[in-house]
Amino acid sequence: MIAALALGALVAVLAAGAATAGGSAELVEVVEPLPPLDRSPEGAVEPAGAALDALLRARRSVRAFAPDSLDAATLGWILWAAGGITEQAGFARRAAPSAGALYPLEIDVVTARGIARYDPRGHALRWRRAGDQRAQLGAAALRQPWVSAAPATLVIGAVPQRTRIKYGERADRYVWIEAGCVAQNALLAAVARGLGAVVVGAFDDAAVAGLLGYAEGLHPLLLIPIGRQAAAPGPSAGPGR
Ligand SMILES: Cc1cc2nc3c(=O)[nH]c(=O)nc-3n(C[C@H](O)[C@H](O)[C@H](O)COP(=O)(O)O)c2cc1C
Repeated sequence: MIAALALGALVAVLAAGAATAGGSAELVEVVEPLPPLDRSPEGAVEPAGAALDALLRARRSVRAFAPDSLDAATLGWILWAAGGITEQAGFARRAAPSAGALYPLEIDVVTARGIARYDPRGHALRWRRAGDQRAQLGAAALRQPWVSAAPATLVIGAVPQRTRIKYGERADRYVWIEAGCVAQNALLAAVARGLGAVVVGAFDDAAVAGLLGYAEGLHPLLLIPIGRQAAAPGPSAGPGR
């Protein structure tokens, strides 16, 4: 199998050489198998790498949650992993990358207690609305039951104007890319705490923005319900959307 792949790669390389010799700039696909995904001595995975390897393998979208709430330390650590400050020197840099270090994203959390915005500088929650709004958030998320059931849902929103100042029209794509980086950090942090989570992109933008009391210019991009996975998956668990 490996030999066959190697031969294929060699043929492709020869074809590429011939094409170059003939003056053609055509791209030729070169297939080169990567080393197997085991811990061979020469590619030994460091302890931190092994931990990341385990998190990546364990992460799956979870859509059935036990009702227990997240304690503040767990929620705080997941928020820090998503959007927290990891380097104070000069411009404070965060766990997820940001084009031009302009940080256009805001992260709110919706729990049984209310709705709060994460403040990365103070590593604090700024409670903005009291009372359990999870059912309303679930309704705004096209009635996906895991959104109402999760003990905590992160709502990641963006102020694209912060990035447009430097990058103009390209800012919108940068903002989406950043949301993906932040989301994956949050998902892996949830797994690291023995929790499950799912990215939810299907929701009514205006309803979510209204529920969260978003200011002009702030737009919701995605939701991440998080919680302890229910022992037996509910009827709604599954490959989803
Ligand atoms: C941009 C995006 C939007 C998604 N929206 C939803 C959603 O609205 N509801 C949902 O249950 N899952 C949603 N998912 C989760 C996907 O269904 C899930 O990632 C996919 O089935 C692969 O399964 P895995 O996450 O377990 O690997 C979304 C995922 C992404 C990346």
